[in-house]
Amino acid sequence: MTYKIITVQRHIMDTQRRYPQARGEFSDLLSQIILAAKVIYREVSKAGLSDVLGATDDINVHGERVMKLDKFANTVMIRALDHGGHLCIMASEENEDPIPIPEEYPSGKYVLLFDPLDGSSNIAVNVSVGSIFSIHRKISSGKRGKLEDLLQPGYKQAGAGYIIYGSSTMLVFSTGVGVHGFTLDPSVGEFLLSHENMQIPESGAIYSCNEGYFNSWSPGVKEYILQMKQNATAENKSASLRYTGSMVADIHRTLLYGGIFLYPGQVAGPAPKPEGKLRLLYECAPMAYLIEQAGGRASDGLRRILDIAPDSLHQRVPFFAGSSLNVLEVERLIREEQA
Ligand code: AHG
Ligand code: MN
Ligand code: MN
Repeated sequence: MTYKIITVQRHIMDTQRRYPQARGEFSDLLSQIILAAKVIYREVSKAGLSDVLGATDDINVHGERVMKLDKFANTVMIRALDHGGHLCIMASEENEDPIPIPEEYPSGKYVLLFDPLDGSSNIAVNVSVGSIFSIHRKISSGKRGKLEDLLQPGYKQAGAGYIIYGSSTMLVFSTGVGVHGFTLDPSVGEFLLSHENMQIPESGAIYSCNEGYFNSWSPGVKEYILQMKQNATAENKSASLRYTGSMVADIHRTLLYGGIFLYPGQVAGPAPKPEGKLRLLYECAPMAYLIEQAGGRASDGLRRILDIAPDSLHQRVPFFAGSSLNVLEVERLIREEQA
């Protein structure tokens, strides 16, 4: 064996030694997120066997049917994290209102926002799903967290990451000193360092979007996709379309191979959704933080995602993220269409 075996906790401690400005203080909080992820992984990995597939009778705040595993993953995240003493408030895709820390538990200096299960409609067909998290510092006065702690712009994140439950289970996270990936070794139950300092290529030929919505997109977005195909052909290498419908899986591939992930606003058609589908605080902002930390770029077409000051918990935003040259080009075409 030629490689070192490094757990997440050990990696955080090493990073802190090398970079005194690195934030090792929430290694314990991360351990609780990891525990929740392992419990979710256990259920996801035997999804076809136990009675966890299918829908509940509930409709969530976004008007979407809640799958059994969404509900399970949400409960696991809340129960694993509400009593650790590090958090003062939480928010989840599945809860309309902020989730307070129960009075009987101590309140801490961090704020957690999460999507407990991303891509859950893919579980029944055995396609990768994930969990996404975003960590902020408490800014409000008083002991317990408030809505203002949750509504902070993404550039203020103290850390962010995702867990992908795929052909292997991986944790990818950043605390502001690069992006690092850890693969779960199920036989020992530990996430071990497998992808240190992930860097996204400067440009890429893979585009990842639901092209079925093409007719509803604005002219600049349409032009970008058409151009992507033409340019790639001109360079004598074809563009590739890759889209699983699980953002965690699509962003994971984009981080590793480069290219662009996009979920634009739908501006034309019978049911326009100009803000698109993805949620700013617990989907786009944490992914934008990781993409930027890996050297890429993320925007809503006009603004840097991390600069957007949120005005509500479940706010949606158009999302373009990936290799910097790809995202710059789609931004240029969107600006041109507005001119
Ligand atoms: P969630 O399962 O948390 O509701 O998120 C699903 C999201 C995201 O993972 C994916 O990129 C997108 O929905 C897919 O939407 P379309 O089916 O409209 O392409
Ligand atoms: Mn999601
Ligand atoms: Mn979800």
